[in-house]
Amino acid sequence: MRKQITAGNWKMHLTKDEAIDLVFQIKNAVKDSGKRPPEGVEMILIPPFPWLPMVSQAVHNVPGMHAGAQNCAHEEQGALTGEVSADMIASAGAQYVIIGHSERRQHFQESHDRLKEKTALALKYNLTPIFCCGENLKERNAGEENRVVEKQLTDSLFSLSKEEFSRVIIAYEPVWAIGTGKTATPEQAGQMHAFIRETIENHYGNNIARQVSLLYGGSCKPGNAKALFSQQHVDGGLIGGASLNAKDFTEIYFSLWEK
Ligand code: PGA
Repeated sequence: MRKQITAGNWKMHLTKDEAIDLVFQIKNAVKDSGKRPPEGVEMILIPPFPWLPMVSQAVHNVPGMHAGAQNCAHEEQGALTGEVSADMIASAGAQYVIIGHSERRQHFQESHDRLKEKTALALKYNLTPIFCCGENLKERNAGEENRVVEKQLTDSLFSLSKEEFSRVIIAYEPVWAIGTGKTATPEQAGQMHAFIRETIENHYGNNIARQVSLLYGGSCKPGNAKALFSQQHVDGGLIGGASLNAKDFTEIYFSLWEK
């Protein structure tokens, strides 16, 4: 069975005290529910870099909870002021790393090739890449969403071996839905996820395609999470804004338990 995941991308938000408070509230909300997460259901907290060791430590050995980073460098080490390597992220205690978020593609000009390098390094240091893909509004209006997503996957991921690719998580995040309050309908998300799984199957075969988790991201909230997650090929969500509120985030997480 593939993993069902709720990942919270905090982006560039929260001071140290606010971050500590949020982790504490999330852990308590899960504890107060009095239940253990079902097998294969996970929560990943993805804070800004300075809080990564603290968050990793806080979720260490908590059933179903993990930590991840929002990005990693495209080189292993060296004179790259301001960058953080995959090796450093792993040694900080994180297990996941987001690669190719649309904000990185847009504001930091991350190309398909650059994301290919980052994915390879993440895998080398045993981090699970959460690889983001998704079309912008212009591309969707032109009916080009499938072509755009297929190219993102092909150019950055499809040279990985079967073994490597089976360790990747994919997050479909339509750019027009990120931080806009405009969520993809469950049908739109379901169709794209089915297309992504089919594309993976064509390249890597049915066994791999069935085991890769596909997350939806873009204005996912407590009010729409259940409907989105009920789609056959949607295996959870990558949550931005709503992950900064413990109540909203845990509510989204719990809606995955019922899937
Ligand atoms: P959002 O962000 O939930 O605030 O739309 C999602 C993301 O960017 O991962």
